[in-house]
Amino acid sequence: MAPEPLRTLYWDNGSLFLLDQRLLPGQISYLECRSAAEVFAAIRAMVVRGAPAIGLSAAFGMVLGARHLAAEGLSGPALRQQLAEIAARLRSARPTAVNLSWALERMERKLEGAAGLSGAEIAAMLEEEARLMLHEDISINRRIGEHGEPLIPDGASILTHCNAGALATAGYGTALGVIRAAVAAGKRVHVFAGETRPLLQGARLTALELRREKIPVTLVTDSCAGYLMASGKVDLVITGADRIAANGDAANKIGTYTLAVLARQHGIPFYIAAPCSTIDLSLEDGQGMVIEERDPSEVTTLMGQPIAPAGVGALNPAFDVTPAEFITALITERGVLYRPGRAGLAELMGKE
Ligand code: MRU
Repeated sequence: MAPEPLRTLYWDNGSLFLLDQRLLPGQISYLECRSAAEVFAAIRAMVVRGAPAIGLSAAFGMVLGARHLAAEGLSGPALRQQLAEIAARLRSARPTAVNLSWALERMERKLEGAAGLSGAEIAAMLEEEARLMLHEDISINRRIGEHGEPLIPDGASILTHCNAGALATAGYGTALGVIRAAVAAGKRVHVFAGETRPLLQGARLTALELRREKIPVTLVTDSCAGYLMASGKVDLVITGADRIAANGDAANKIGTYTLAVLARQHGIPFYIAAPCSTIDLSLEDGQGMVIEERDPSEVTTLMGQPIAPAGVGALNPAFDVTPAEFITALITERGVLYRPGRAGLAELMGKE
């Protein structure tokens, strides 16, 4: 039997426990967060990463903030004002994935109906909402998997990038959820995991998840993608997303755009699997997306070792934007949207 999938995050006895993804695959260790500030630091340092997982973590960050404020005796407008400040701080931890703001907005909406409640009641109400979101995330991913499964032919050779798996969500995953659903439906698949420089989420996380479940996986360097597609070794590409604009342009891990262009060149379908919470209709297109720039030292070092001459400059954008025209279909919990565009996305977001 395959081992249980690793738990990305869980709430226990008033603390948030985050699987420290910086230490994977070598070490399985959980970091206990007891305050909103600790959750902020963990998101920023990428102890937890992946769009849905950082949103859920931030939601529990709000719960921790509310518990502390309630313990200090705060309630009413003073408590709500301080919680708004905590939400603003958490939101700034990573700028590209919209799921972070989405989760915090959902928590803030809960607060709107909390006028007559004590601090402790507000904290309890927020805890209930965060737990519900955690639970919902897994069922959303399973529905993404169900909708995406028919797109995976039996015997498919699949290229994925970064990690859009259980480790990027509360469980099951988005892009890897579709692959899991195909395997559960009895299909044979083979996955090429792009290593995903600079932080190697593909090598460290995607390869780990798939190996644990005995889903055949081969690790490739990011620069191998063109060769693989040109030699007919890839039937489809599937990735997650961090933010999808109203016209269908999608931000995801740096290197995704390259894969989409290559896929188009070779006539290979390019799919994005993402929950509707990743869709940001407030942005007209990908031009307005904020792309996180991370520390250049992530590029000039590899697992802590220098790999470039001291003092050399390096650029480290964490994401890129794939224009909608390169996306064959967007797979969501509400269904599959072929050639995602303005009208289709508006209709999808109007559906419940
Ligand atoms: O920098 P990361 O590791 O947070 O980037 C993660 C990705 O780009 C994922 O593909 C995306 O968040 C979707 S996760 C379901």
